[in-house]
Amino acid sequence: MTETPTETARLLELRGIDKTFGTVQAVRGLTLSVPAGEFVTVVGPSGCGKSTLFNMVAGLDEPDPGGVLRFKGRSCHAHELLGRVSFMPQRDLLLPWRNVIDNAIIANEIEGADRKTARARALRMLPEFGLTGFEAQYPHQLSGGMRQRVALMRTFMFERELMLLDEPFGALDALTRSMMQRWLLDVWERHRRTVLFITHDVDEAIFLGDRVLVMTARPGSVKLARPVDLPRPRSAELVTSPEFIAIKREILAAIEEESMKSFMATGMRAA
Ligand SMILES: Nc1ncnc2c1ncn2[C@@H]1O[C@H](COP(=O)(O)OP(=O)(O)O)[C@@H](O)[C@H]1O
Ligand SMILES: [Mg+2]
Repeated sequence: MTETPTETARLLELRGIDKTFGTVQAVRGLTLSVPAGEFVTVVGPSGCGKSTLFNMVAGLDEPDPGGVLRFKGRSCHAHELLGRVSFMPQRDLLLPWRNVIDNAIIANEIEGADRKTARARALRMLPEFGLTGFEAQYPHQLSGGMRQRVALMRTFMFERELMLLDEPFGALDALTRSMMQRWLLDVWERHRRTVLFITHDVDEAIFLGDRVLVMTARPGSVKLARPVDLPRPRSAELVTSPEFIAIKREILAAIEEESMKSFMATGMRAA
């Protein structure tokens, strides 16, 4: 079957995806579509299935039978995506016994790249990731922000069209976080990968994204897909602009509605 241009332009597509763990339905009827080059952010209450979504797209977990998963226009099983997307899991997972460079090249090493070549490439990338001079340091010698940059560098070094970032700035203080957001956009403008980015933080989701997906409470599905039609490059002042605040109000209303629903449901069960 020939693909129409709009179909091939979508890098990733999920339709009606379910995922159950034992008696817990983590995700239900999850449908989303990501065109190549887009920066999509995902917000939703804790436990709504965000990491589950990523684990499936990264090929680590298979969805329940019945849904459709497409990558580059082709229908596939989740496990076929293993190694085809770059994935930064929720915890940074730096190996404490490896220095910065050797942590940065892990994914390349696993896929059989020559160590020396990979190290040289990582060394060249250090300045862009604000790690110049830190190549020989170990994770415990780095600040939280630096560790996140090493983990991000590793994800960027594993060059795949689709990049999944699961709450990469979740553990950082507000100031470091906002610096990292601007830095990430800067790096992204140059590398232009397709990004799926999970966050708890609505401001972060709007500031970074071309589109924000708001998820429902568990079982997770997409409640709202809100385009962010704000110009790039984006500066820190953007978050106080009326346009930004209007988008934020809409997203918060969706989240509020969702929390009320789950609060009522919990309340009823308790009664
Ligand atoms: N491997 C697993 N085994 C059993 N339950 C799981 C597993 N992974 C996730 N869950 C459950 O699925 C739900 C969604 O989890 P998760 O995707 O981690 O949520 P989020 O990332 O949105 O906080 C939670 O109730 C969690 O306990
Ligand atoms: Mg999670």
